[in-house]
Amino acid sequence: MCGIVAYIGPREAYPIILKGLKRLEYRGYDSSGVALLNNKLQVYKKKGKVAELEESLVGKDLHAHAGIGHTRWATHGEPSDRNAHPHSSASGKLAMIHNGIIENYTQLKTELIKKGYTFKSDTDTEVLLNFIEDIQKNNNCGLEEAVRIALKRVVGAYVIVLLDKDQPDTIIAARKGSPLVIGIGKGEHFLASDASPMIEYTKEVVYVNDYELAILKADELILKNLGNEKLTPFVQKLDMEMTAIEKGGYDHFMLKEIFEQPETIFDCLRGRLDAEKGVITMAGIQNNIEHLKNASRIIMIACGTSWHAGLVAEYIFEEICRIPVEVEYASEFRYRNPVIHKGDVIIAISQSGETADTIVAIEKAKEMGAFILGVVNVVGSSIARISHAGAYTHAGHEIGVASTKAFTAQLAVLTMIALKIAREKGTIDQTRYMHLLGGLHNIPEKVKEVLKGSGAIQQLALKYKDAGDALYLGRGYNFPVALEGALKLKEISYIHAEGYPAAEMKHGPIALVDEHLPVVFVATKDTYYEKIVSNIQEIKARKGKVIAVISQGDDIISKMADDCIIIPEADELLAPMLSVIPLQLLAYYIGVAKGCDVDKPRNLAKSVTVE
Ligand code: AGP
Ligand code: GLU
Repeated sequence: MCGIVAYIGPREAYPIILKGLKRLEYRGYDSSGVALLNNKLQVYKKKGKVAELEESLVGKDLHAHAGIGHTRWATHGEPSDRNAHPHSSASGKLAMIHNGIIENYTQLKTELIKKGYTFKSDTDTEVLLNFIEDIQKNNNCGLEEAVRIALKRVVGAYVIVLLDKDQPDTIIAARKGSPLVIGIGKGEHFLASDASPMIEYTKEVVYVNDYELAILKADELILKNLGNEKLTPFVQKLDMEMTAIEKGGYDHFMLKEIFEQPETIFDCLRGRLDAEKGVITMAGIQNNIEHLKNASRIIMIACGTSWHAGLVAEYIFEEICRIPVEVEYASEFRYRNPVIHKGDVIIAISQSGETADTIVAIEKAKEMGAFILGVVNVVGSSIARISHAGAYTHAGHEIGVASTKAFTAQLAVLTMIALKIAREKGTIDQTRYMHLLGGLHNIPEKVKEVLKGSGAIQQLALKYKDAGDALYLGRGYNFPVALEGALKLKEISYIHAEGYPAAEMKHGPIALVDEHLPVVFVATKDTYYEKIVSNIQEIKARKGKVIAVISQGDDIISKMADDCIIIPEADELLAPMLSVIPLQLLAYYIGVAKGCDVDKPRNLAKSVTVE
């Protein structure tokens, strides 16, 4: 995710772009920049928030009637001045901003380096820009044609917006997979990732579709497809308020992020998982595969939801990699005197990459000789930098304090890492390996199916919103999901909830069960199914209210439970990416029904950078 703003028309471009970028910072803000075209093409960019860019530009020549601006959420190349957008082409004639991921940028970069190109940044964006300029030079064609030719070779997601010093009255943009809105003013045009930067100037907007190119002048908008055919722009009236736009029309960022999960899991797999060829491409893992496959032990270190992801990973890694795994709360690990051996591999899991307990814990393990692998969402964050290697989750900016899309992205990345190691070690047979790659490939579509049940879950939330306590139970892969569901309910609705291994009930907690206690079972079809049916019977025998997350076609538990949430079947190793989603929604809707501030729950912070 990132924020994109562009303007062309009679007004001064810079103030419009700057204000627009500030409104888009919710989409990511590790660095920002503007390019202004007024005879000369000037690019100003800086690591940090938009306000820091603004401060650095005081006194600069910012006069221009055409400009582009970007607030970055890094995917390739850590946050820095040189990796910030806009990027300039080798000739300095072109400037470009980009939202998305160019999957085949390595291949394009290799071709360009062979032609003598050098690069000022580590980004995929700069590669695409020079690829476009190279086409322009070799085909002796205009920028619009060069963009069209280039995009036919690009694999990935993008919105790109370009300025050309030789065409000061034109802005060129193209879209595939990332959002782009055109604002139509009187003798002026706006471009942005959503409508919030243009809302006070115009209510007439055109949502650009995939594989479309926009050529904007102050008084002209031309829309074309990549085949160079003109398209008729579909002009719509904007009727959303600004805050609603930032939330994509959802009531809260948390709900938006829950519903983003088909795309964020897809983005996480993008360019890495090729289920057809049976290949997982992860440079950070491949380059360190000897460390990983020969690990004597893997220790997952994390906090909160990320710790739950580590618990799921424990089951995955032990099952298919046959490597002993321990899962440690970072806050406990750091104060103990742990025994760390040279062959130990630490997997540090963190959405923010800034959690103080996790940072200190892995620094301690690193000093003791462990190999640190970071699974992090924020590119260039502290944990990413401390780690010897890693893999980003590409879940985009997660704003809701309760972690949702980051959790399922963590599971997707950890699953791919385990599959790569198991393949290298030969501890997984080809049939199961290919079955799991295919299953992983289908997860985004299955998540969409789960989300279709959100209305029924909203009704369920109204039924249980006044509960004083709740239990969440699961077995095997679904035990960590039960813990995660309980955490979501606690932190969003302030209802006390506890997660347990379902079989653990008979060792004490079953004393809690009576007709007032809702008990949520994560009971999808897996190797533990018959056992969990018995656990449900134990609860029913004591009049507990049973809510069960079950697999499509389940005709046993569906007759036992008081309420059921049905989700598509999936291999048990992959099921947590599906079974957690109803629990995210249940917590969200109960929190809303109780009038809680679901995006900013009391007492909590998004990133716990204190001890
Ligand atoms: C999850 O919903 C919570 N917000 C919290 O437990 C969080 O997972 C924990 O603080 C770890 O954060 P991190 O993933 O950024 O390290
Ligand atoms: N992939 C580009 C980069 O890392 C764009 C990221 C974004 O969408 O902000 O710079």
